[in-house]
Amino acid sequence: MKWPFRQRSLEDLGAHALSASHAQAMADIHAQTFKPSWTDGEFADLLSRENVGGVALSEQATDGGAMLGFALVRITGDEAEILTVAVTPKWQNYGLGRRLMDMVLANLHADRISKLFLEVDEGNQAAVALYRNVGFEQVAVRKNYYSGDEGQKSHALVMRRDVG
Ligand SMILES: CC(C)(COP(=O)(O)OP(=O)(O)OC[C@H]1O[C@@H](n2cnc3c(N)ncnc32)[C@H](O)[C@@H]1OP(=O)(O)O)[C@@H](O)C(=O)NCCC(=O)NCCS
Repeated sequence: MKWPFRQRSLEDLGAHALSASHAQAMADIHAQTFKPSWTDGEFADLLSRENVGGVALSEQATDGGAMLGFALVRITGDEAEILTVAVTPKWQNYGLGRRLMDMVLANLHADRISKLFLEVDEGNQAAVALYRNVGFEQVAVRKNYYSGDEGQKSHALVMRRDVG
């Protein structure tokens, strides 16, 4: 059997802007990381809007070119909101989430956006850790905001970070 060597070096990944042509790859990653996940049609619809965009990290074309993670952002006035961020499971904990957030913040700073908001399930330890580590602070709690598979409720943390 061929040795299943996989690159694990962030430097070997390519960063690129998201467009509607990436909707299927985004939906595939979302299906592996979220319940309920968003469809390719939903991603395509979001990305057709003037104020929605984002960034992805993908393998180099010579390694197959697969998308490994992305962050999707909506801008309203001089504020922005993370709509979703996801990294394919095999590549989690290798720094992609942090790199995606750093790229989002650098782009928003260049566009003079002042604040970035997001909502996260308080039980999502990986995401809460990522957001705290890149400087987000909790500003509110939306009680019983999320519903799990069996109807169980969990709170959403509303988090904010000044850009720049
Ligand atoms: C949340 C998510 C995007 C993080 O991506 P990632 O590439 O694994 O994160 P990174 O490797 O860049 O880690 C970023 C930081 O979070 C911390 N972290 C990551 N996973 C963690 C975990 N399971 N528990 C605790 N801390 C964790 C890391 O220690 C790291 O801190 P550092 O930068 O100070 O070293 C990824 O786990 C994911 O796709 N989860 C499923 C989808 C999801 O929940 N998205 C967010 C919804 S709001």
